[in-house]
Amino acid sequence: MIRSLSPEDLTDAVALLEASNLGGAQANLARYLRCQPRCGWVALRDGVLAGLVTVLRQGTAAFVGAMAVHPDHRSAGIGRALLEHAQAESRRAGITTFLLEATPIGEHLYRRLGYVAEHETLILQREGDVAAVTAQIAPSDHLAITALDRIATGTERDDMLALLLREGPGTTIRMRGEVVGVGLVVGERLGPVHATQVDVGRALVDQLAPACRVVTIPEPNQHALAAVSGHGFREARRLRRMRLGPAVPMRTDWVWALASPGAG
Ligand SMILES: CC(C)(COP(=O)(O)OP(=O)(O)OC[C@H]1O[C@@H](n2cnc3c(N)ncnc32)[C@H](O)[C@@H]1OP(=O)(O)O)[C@@H](O)C(=O)NCCC(=O)NCCS
Repeated sequence: MIRSLSPEDLTDAVALLEASNLGGAQANLARYLRCQPRCGWVALRDGVLAGLVTVLRQGTAAFVGAMAVHPDHRSAGIGRALLEHAQAESRRAGITTFLLEATPIGEHLYRRLGYVAEHETLILQREGDVAAVTAQIAPSDHLAITALDRIATGTERDDMLALLLREGPGTTIRMRGEVVGVGLVVGERLGPVHATQVDVGRALVDQLAPACRVVTIPEPNQHALAAVSGHGFREARRLRRMRLGPAVPMRTDWVWALASPGAG
């Protein structure tokens, strides 16, 4: 049986993510549900939670995250049925494009459903001390940041961004009164960082990277990769950004760091 994720499912959903080696997705799941309480679906087998997926609406695009089937129930068609169900319901709500960051194991399922690869996404990490960031973003900058985020990501994820802006310290860079760059630190994670110019992106990374241990970067943005390498970040994992439906106009040259694979 497939049904919407309810608050009572949360403990089992987190256990499922852990059993699927997606422990890092827990914080994302909590954030997704705060942002859009009806963004999740679960598959039950004999009353047990066997599968989970979230689809976060971002305008007419949506981000698929926290996709997992319990190891005991894999290769039985649950992942496919669950994602097809979530897609069908999302389409009825006006979604035309689905986006995600695929693990190598997830990629098989997504290709079967017609997803195509866009680019690689690198997760980089560093060891060592983490500096404190005190910079805060002024609420008066939020509108300009939202506008920048829409152009950088090609999606409308204003609700998620508002949550992230409340969560993290960060900074903006202005030129001639315009916001041309923004960077946030969420936990020990750098991102989102958006910059309309290379020197602006570098300045944001130089200021905020020492406060972070993890950063996720679209591989086409080589300037961003070079900038974080200079701060001791090394590649830990790769994901593949995939899409089903018409492309959204993401500007990978403006995206210097994603908030997380799931949150964007
Ligand atoms: C990815 C995952 C959700 C797939 O769930 P599942 O229930 O096993 O998938 P299904 O049984 O519905 O398989 C769907 C299709 O993908 C294919 N597939 C699934 N896993 C595969 C694998 N490891 N290798 C090759 N093909 C695979 C199946 O053959 C099937 O195609 P078919 O319908 O044409 O036969 C599950 O493996 C999982 O939870 N993995 C760990 C967490 C993870 O990486 N999640 C993805 C995050 S992006």
